[in-house]
Amino acid sequence: MTTNLSLRPVTSTDLPIFFEYQLDEEANWMAAFTAKDPTDRAAFMAHWQRILANKTVFIQTILADGEVAGSVLRYEDEGKPEVSYWLGKRYWGRGIASWALSEFLARHNMTRPMYARVAKDNPGSRRVLEKCEFRVIKEMSGYANARKAEISELLLVLEG
Ligand SMILES: CC(C)(COP(=O)(O)OP(=O)(O)OC[C@H]1O[C@@H](n2cnc3c(N)ncnc32)[C@H](O)[C@@H]1OP(=O)(O)O)[C@@H](O)C(=O)NCCC(=O)NCCS
Repeated sequence: MTTNLSLRPVTSTDLPIFFEYQLDEEANWMAAFTAKDPTDRAAFMAHWQRILANKTVFIQTILADGEVAGSVLRYEDEGKPEVSYWLGKRYWGRGIASWALSEFLARHNMTRPMYARVAKDNPGSRRVLEKCEFRVIKEMSGYANARKAEISELLLVLEG
C-alpha cells in the first residue's frame, strides 16, 4: 500500500514515463477524449513541450513512494480553467487520484469556479471529481478519438 504521496514540478525524465502510461488501451478507452494516435511519440513530446511552456497551464507530477505515478494539470479551455489527471495503471485503485486532485486544488490555491470534463461512462474519474466536490452541470456529446465515435461527456464545476 502507498504510504507516501507528493506532488512536484514535471521534469524531462517524467515525459517518457507519462508516454508509456498514456499508451495503455484500457486507460485510453476510459479517458476517451485522448490523442488521435497515442503511439505517436514525436507528437506526444511536442504536445508536452508546448503545454509545459504555456503560462496558462500548470502541471504537477504525482509521486507515490518516490515513483512517478502520473500527472495532474490545470489548463484553460476558452478562458475557463479545467483540471485533468492520468495515472499509470499499476497505481490505480489506491486513492492516489483522489489525493492528488484534492492536494493540487488546495495547495495551489486554484481559482473558482474550476471545471472538469469526463466521459459519462468513466465512473472512476467522475468519482474522483465528486469526492473533490465537483458537481455535474451539463451533459454534452463530443467526438472521442479513443472510441472513434461521438459519446456523452459530462461537464463538472467546483464552486468556491
Ligand atoms: C480515473 C483514474 C484517474 C482514477 O484513479 P485512481 O487513483 O484509481 O482513483 P481513486 O483510487 O482515487 O478512486 C476514486 C474513487 O473512484 C472509484 N473508482 C476508481 N476506479 C473506478 C472504476 N474503474 N469504476 C468504478 N469506480 C472506480 C474508487 O472506488 C474510489 O471511490 P471510493 O473512494 O468511493 O471507494 C485512473 O483510473 C486513470 O488515470 N485512468 C486513465 C485516465 C483517465 O481516465 N483520466 C481521467 C480523464 S477525465
